[in-house]
Amino acid sequence: MKKNTVFDCNIVHLPKIHSRQGNITPVENNVNIPFDVKRIYYLYDIPGGESRGAHGHKDLESVIIALSGSFDVTIDDGENKKTFQLNRPYMGLNIKPGMWRDLSNFSSGSICLVLASHIYNENDYIRNYEDFLKRL
Ligand code: TYD
Repeated sequence: MKKNTVFDCNIVHLPKIHSRQGNITPVENNVNIPFDVKRIYYLYDIPGGESRGAHGHKDLESVIIALSGSFDVTIDDGENKKTFQLNRPYMGLNIKPGMWRDLSNFSSGSICLVLASHIYNENDYIRNYEDFLKRL
């Protein structure tokens, strides 16, 4: 199978249904998200300026959305890195399997929603960057 690169990881533009009373963004499996969502989790109460992530995933694919506030996501395929600033609740970053990711520069009060292709499995994580590079 072809190895994913950072260039396969792109911003997903989600629908935004606007009204004077506020906006709605619907998210549907295989419509806006290129996989079946098996798990969602969200990061919140993150101190301003804090960082998270700093791990790789073997098979997990995800879409990350800044539901509120902003933060940066740096993805790394071992050869190239790309940084995306997420700051709109109708824009997601699709991270393909096999990437290292760092989340940084959280604004205080931000909420990071993650839609994930698998349920939680610690064996899918690569926690050490040297080990991540060795797998390539
Ligand atoms: P981790 O994925 O390392 O957090 P982050 O990448 O955001 O810094 O997870 C932190 C802890 O939470 C770790 O002990 C595993 C646990 N956890 C679960 O039990 N289930 C989950 O779905 C997630 C994402 C984490």
